Amino acid sequence: MDLFNYKNGKLYCEDIAVEELASEFGTPLYIYSANTIKRHIDNFQQAFKDVPTTICYSVKVCSNINILKMVAAQGEAFDVVSGGELYRVLQAGGDPGRVVYAGVGKTDSEIRYAIEQKIGYFNIESEAELENIIKIAGEMGKVVNCALRVNPDVDPKTHTYTTTGKKESKFGVDIERAINVFETYGRNPNIRLCGIHLHIGSPVYTVEPYVEAITKTLAMIDELRTRGFVIDTLDIGGGYAADYTTGKAPSPADYARQIIPLVKDKGLKIILEPGRSIMGNAAIMVSRVNYTKTSGEKNFAIIDGAMNDLIRPMLYGAFHFIWPVNVSEKFAITDRQEVMDMPGLIKTDVVGPICESGDFLAQDRMLPPMKRGDLLAAYTAGAYGYAMASQYNSRPRAVEVLVDGSQAKIIRRRETWADLVAPELI
Ligand code: LLP
Repeated sequence: MDLFNYKNGKLYCEDIAVEELASEFGTPLYIYSANTIKRHIDNFQQAFKDVPTTICYSVKVCSNINILKMVAAQGEAFDVVSGGELYRVLQAGGDPGRVVYAGVGKTDSEIRYAIEQKIGYFNIESEAELENIIKIAGEMGKVVNCALRVNPDVDPKTHTYTTTGKKESKFGVDIERAINVFETYGRNPNIRLCGIHLHIGSPVYTVEPYVEAITKTLAMIDELRTRGFVIDTLDIGGGYAADYTTGKAPSPADYARQIIPLVKDKGLKIILEPGRSIMGNAAIMVSRVNYTKTSGEKNFAIIDGAMNDLIRPMLYGAFHFIWPVNVSEKFAITDRQEVMDMPGLIKTDVVGPICESGDFLAQDRMLPPMKRGDLLAAYTAGAYGYAMASQYNSRPRAVEVLVDGSQAKIIRRRETWADLVAPELI
């Protein structure tokens, strides 16, 4: 799953003790494991090798250009959702020709920028957007590749905020309208409308919703082909789960086992847009306990990390496994699920210093007794962790460190107070 393991009561990222990294770089800090990232990418490539597949890493998940460089070096392409993300891909030396660009609200300047950079595909989210792209491509004298994002009306059984493939969502066009979109725009000379895009939600813990969505879509592709449209690409999006609790997430091979038989021999190039499944387990967020206190029945560990550093618990009620970086033998763990039954644990709220009661990383969590100075690791922080961090409460954003074997390097320095005010015009 990942390369964060305990040796003699100390948590290691690959070959480096996390406490050493915390001393050297300070807390809160994000620690990424390079070899976990490589392993996860490799698992996807192996799982889907029997069909012509392009894996487009979803930049929104973790967009540090050092990570993007690593991803590109392993042969991945990119999925972007803004001009800024495309800019990052280019900064990282990514190939714009292998970029797919989704998003319901692409602006004219973003569309122009993407056309200038000759991206691979626009994933089209509405008729109005398609009309605009046709207009802009016409003004620029270009022909651009487009895939129509369809909404297959499938329930991915995940958080409502990250459910995207149901009928009432703002994404894509209803699958019943897709034929009509092709009939209206599919022969326009400024576009090559030759792909179908899906993204049903995130994270999706079972394969069935993909099977359902792909099956519906393939029937529609048959109909489009009968009507003379050339469809050569099927982008099935992202959403593949990460292991927030050990053993719950299907592996890339589990997804592939059911998806490949559906799409094989259909004459389609397959695009995948994984993000969380690659980056989720590849990082931890480490904080130091500043104070402990009790209020009524509650025990609090007040840490120096906060909701501005990792907002997922507050925003989605998301579970992140948390455990001390250094533990006595009594609290040594091998399996992150077993710990709830250990004798001696104390029900604790792990909270940050921000002035909101929603500022917590965990509530009522069974943890070893905590004291000032202890380090705590929040696991599975690599996806939508740093990427969603903010400076709320004028807290400079944390440092990001990448570990590769016994080497550690800063890939984004800790922000300073001067950074907080730098863009403000005085
Ligand atoms: N493709 C599209 C079009 C997407 O909208 C997304 C994620 C992905 C790919 C990547 O999905 P993944 O493989 O990472 O599941 N902030 C939320 C998740 C938002 C997902 C947005 N779209 C969270 O922290 O859970």
